[in-house]
Amino acid sequence: MVSRTIPVDSFDLVLFGATGDLAARKILPSLYRRFQAGQMPGDARIIGAARSDLTDDDFRTSVRKAIDAFVSEAKKDKATIDAFVAQCCYIPIDAKGTGGWKELKKAVRDDVVKAFYFSVAPAIFGDLADRLRSNGIACDNSRLVVEKPFGTDLETARALNDSLAASFDETQIYRIDHFLGKETVQNLMAVRFANVLFEPLWNERYIDHVQITVAETVGVGGRGSYYDTSGAMRDMVQNHLMQLLCLTAMEPPNQFDPDRLRDEKLKVIRSLDPVEPGDVVRGQYKAGSEGPSYAEDSENPDSRTESFVALKVGISNWRWKHTPFYLRTGKRMARRHSEIVVQFKDTPHSIFDRDGTSKANALTIRLQPDEGIDLAVTIKEPGPGGMRLTTVPLDMTFADALGGEEEIPDAYERLIMDVIRGNQTLFMRGDEVEAAWAWTDPIIQGWEARGDKPNLYAQGSSGPEEALALLHRDHRRWRDLEG
Ligand code: BG6
Repeated sequence: MVSRTIPVDSFDLVLFGATGDLAARKILPSLYRRFQAGQMPGDARIIGAARSDLTDDDFRTSVRKAIDAFVSEAKKDKATIDAFVAQCCYIPIDAKGTGGWKELKKAVRDDVVKAFYFSVAPAIFGDLADRLRSNGIACDNSRLVVEKPFGTDLETARALNDSLAASFDETQIYRIDHFLGKETVQNLMAVRFANVLFEPLWNERYIDHVQITVAETVGVGGRGSYYDTSGAMRDMVQNHLMQLLCLTAMEPPNQFDPDRLRDEKLKVIRSLDPVEPGDVVRGQYKAGSEGPSYAEDSENPDSRTESFVALKVGISNWRWKHTPFYLRTGKRMARRHSEIVVQFKDTPHSIFDRDGTSKANALTIRLQPDEGIDLAVTIKEPGPGGMRLTTVPLDMTFADALGGEEEIPDAYERLIMDVIRGNQTLFMRGDEVEAAWAWTDPIIQGWEARGDKPNLYAQGSSGPEEALALLHRDHRRWRDLEG
């Protein structure tokens, strides 16, 4: 793969929650990979900050462990790791008190990009933001990075937005939805807006429906107590699947510019129809060969939280009025796969006998694994004996098409470097997050008011039967399952 690495300006990145799970799994390994690729300047620094009373050396040891556990062997070499950890240091900080703030002020430089990454519980976002300002550490061009969960409903999301807005301007806030950093998700925009081929067909006249699936094989064990207060709707649909829907459905912005793109996404969210109770299926996995039941994983035998959800979503605008979007996500499913399928309509009239397996065109954007795009087209089966038709994929698997052994970069690599570059395009704006909650809240409130219980499903399956029926009743099928 031909990958170009354009160095970024020097920076001080203060990582709050530096001893946490996300820092170890994603943030520090991603920074290391950018360092290894030569993108991180030699005088840039990562300043870990957390409650634990660690020394610089203790922190460097934990950074080494994170690299060891979460970076592929091909990218590990001792000299590079030594050089990277030399750029890391640590300051113990009391988020709600006074400890550590003077030291942090002394450590952070004023003549480089200053980024503050809150990889901590949202309950302390406001305290951290306030102390960064009141101690004169953050300034008008510093950047703030926050992670989901961004609220649990509209009210809490508004309160969080307000707590950040008290100290930082919206142009300084980078709300991460890591799905936006995935290569194929960005490619969806390239395919739609850099090719003339699709746009004329990209509407309800030619598209029958869209399917968006994010299926995982993992359960919620290990994070069951958090997940049980969230569920698939809050954990995945309100953010990741909503972003995928927006990028698929939005109008072309007139420039690839942060606010123009986010304005278009916001318009889509505001055009979503309210979801009727009969258009949603919730599920919860049973015990199986892969592990315990959801109820055991979450240590809540009476839990009514969904580990699976499928829903039919309508968009009330000219482009999509009669084209439903079916969304589906779940844990402990048959296989890990995430994809968007744009199912075109059938030809208006066929001149051939419908012999063979001809099907309407479908464009599939595979997010993971096996990132790529394929377009199902109908051709003639080779050989004599009439016009027998068959459907074949025009397949562009990125790893083959871009010719490389090289790993596709993790979403966090792209996103963290965008923060340093000051590019907000792939980050969610506050009003977008609030609009997404405004649409999600009535769905969740309806379940709570009715005391709905999720349908149980077998591990390693495609979710509850009712999720298949959601499409069958519209004479449609989930494409990956039933062709
Ligand atoms: C996270 C969710 O945001 O995304 C997890 O909280 C989920 O529940 C994860 O497993 C999926 O991300 P990825 O990049 O592994 O597909």
